[in-house]
Amino acid sequence: MQNKADRTPGAQPQALSIALCGKGGVGKTALSTLMVHGLRRTGKKILAVDADPAMGLTLALGAERPKTIGQIREHVIQVARKRDTRETERVADMVDYYLLEALVEKEGFSLLAMGRTEVLGCYCPVNSLLRAAVEALSASFDLMVLDAEAGLEQINRKVLRRVDILLVVSDPSARGFHTAGAMQELVRSQPELRPGRIGLVVNRCPADSGEDWEKNAREQGLELLGTIPEDPALREMDRTGESLLALPAESKAMVGIRGVLNRLELV
Ligand SMILES: Nc1ncnc2c1ncn2[C@@H]1O[C@H](COP(=O)(O)OP(=O)(O)O)[C@@H](O)[C@H]1O
Ligand SMILES: [Mg+2]
Repeated sequence: MQNKADRTPGAQPQALSIALCGKGGVGKTALSTLMVHGLRRTGKKILAVDADPAMGLTLALGAERPKTIGQIREHVIQVARKRDTRETERVADMVDYYLLEALVEKEGFSLLAMGRTEVLGCYCPVNSLLRAAVEALSASFDLMVLDAEAGLEQINRKVLRRVDILLVVSDPSARGFHTAGAMQELVRSQPELRPGRIGLVVNRCPADSGEDWEKNAREQGLELLGTIPEDPALREMDRTGESLLALPAESKAMVGIRGVLNRLELV
């Protein structure tokens, strides 16, 4: 890990970060998992970040009860209060130490789970130390895939100052597209979020619907990055609790995900 003095914005190379957002149930967690699945044999160093307190990605990627950023935060705050440790340097050392403990190493990728981070109220110094530590850690990876759950502003505040690629996930309904469009507008209206690229991924697309997804996306001000078909194999694996990392490369959903990764020039 780099020297803390170097932790100024832009001072270090960082992993390319890709965040998936969208309303509940559209498939963010499933698609985040499949992205990791599709990327882990490319030789790139992948960091998956589960930013949803429900920790669906952690489960889907087969990591059991890892230490979470939320737990580290609580612990650091408690120790700092008890010892009345105000010196940033010592608290930062503690954060670095626990963060490495929280990093789960799997075959072909690593994982960090955010867990619940709101406990003990707002404690901004610790939050920004944690964010700096995650950013420093990201320098040892090529790519980060974030299952962003709620809004991008949360990611921005807690994980990374800046996301490179934002994937807005939608279902194929008109209402879904409207929500995606509204999300895109909200993100673009906040200059501090400003992802490098925003695109739409339509999930659970019915076969031969006759819809022009490209045009529908454009109408919402979004670039279409790909469509993922409804995949009975995926649904069945989720139902039985089998890891989606076992989904065959030729399955419909994996073919769709590879299309998105191709479009982003990641494979
Ligand atoms: N392409 C797909 N084909 C079939 N089922 C899917 C597909 N994508 C998601 N699902 C199912 O939809 C449900 C919600 O997906 P999930 O990834 O948990 O959504 P989110 O994380 O956005 O809340 C899950 O049961 C999942 O198995
Ligand atoms: Mg989810």
